[in-house]
Amino acid sequence: PDDISDCVATAYKGIGNSADARRSLACCPPVLSEDRPKDYVLPKNPVIRVRPPAHRVSEDYMAKYRKAIQAMRDLDENDPRSYKQQARIHCAYCNAGYTQKQSGHPEKEIQVHNSWLFFPFHRWYLYFYERILGSLIDDPTFALPYWNWDNPTGMTLPPMFEDPVDNDLRRNSIFNAYRDARHLPPAIVDLEYNGRERGASCIDQLGINMSTMYKQMISNAPDYISFFGGEYRAGQDPISIVGSIERGAHTAMHIWASDPRMPNREDMGNFYSAGYDPLFYAHHANVDRMWNIWKQLGGRGHHDPTDPDWLDASYVFYDENKQLVRVYNRNCCDTTLMGYDYETSRIPWSRARP
Ligand code: C2O
Repeated sequence: PDDISDCVATAYKGIGNSADARRSLACCPPVLSEDRPKDYVLPKNPVIRVRPPAHRVSEDYMAKYRKAIQAMRDLDENDPRSYKQQARIHCAYCNAGYTQKQSGHPEKEIQVHNSWLFFPFHRWYLYFYERILGSLIDDPTFALPYWNWDNPTGMTLPPMFEDPVDNDLRRNSIFNAYRDARHLPPAIVDLEYNGRERGASCIDQLGINMSTMYKQMISNAPDYISFFGGEYRAGQDPISIVGSIERGAHTAMHIWASDPRMPNREDMGNFYSAGYDPLFYAHHANVDRMWNIWKQLGGRGHHDPTDPDWLDASYVFYDENKQLVRVYNRNCCDTTLMGYDYETSRIPWSRARP
């Protein structure tokens, strides 16, 4: 968007009847000043935040993470760093909040899904979300957890998200009521879930998931278009050429985690509401990790797009200091330069050619 104040407050795409919406349809960010967003400069020599797999974090980590999310929930809801405002970012960029608002092309809708904007937009979204959480608990090393659904040991809902209360019977800030009750641990995820239970045995499902990963990361993703999604440029209407992971495991896990009793599959099953579930950010951390792994797998086609239209594509966010900043795809290709990385977890699917 050119200007965040130029936003339509009501999201409507993908929501059947707005009266049934379980979350607010008002998606626009607060406008704190009339200043234009400044180009964001990555901090020099950052301390590296290392994102751990969510299913094997320590008690200390869990307490810290829950405290940070609680602090975010406690902020005034008009604070751009607040829980609600962070959730609304997804709605604004994905449910046509900024419809008619592409920079220089005021008649065109912005949609960050179903194209090559998918990986970079979500990377930046999590980047600021993570920095906000860290600053709220005064920990510059705080890193988001990732939902390690591509490894057999991580193929359930990460246990720390499950209980409404913690061990001391305090409210668990990362719990969310709008989830599928059938999919609590020990239910194994189905990386091809489409709303129907496959009914496979545990061991069969693990095998299916392994070959799904192999296909989406290797055989069906030989080049950047098949992995990232189609080319979508300024001045174009949104396209629908979806990358292998976005179309596959990413969407399947959104649906798998969402509540089938809710009219719009809130929270995880709809763009406008997904950001209200803390699980969303752990899910997207693993999606983001797939971007790094795909490049590390090597192979001739496994590189970022080099097209200037991709490199120059940009988004606007509030940072952890409530400064409005503009960020570019070109600055998010290397996560260590951005100050974070992923704790290693094995990728047995890389040898699971079906
Ligand atoms: Cu912006 Cu997982 O969707």
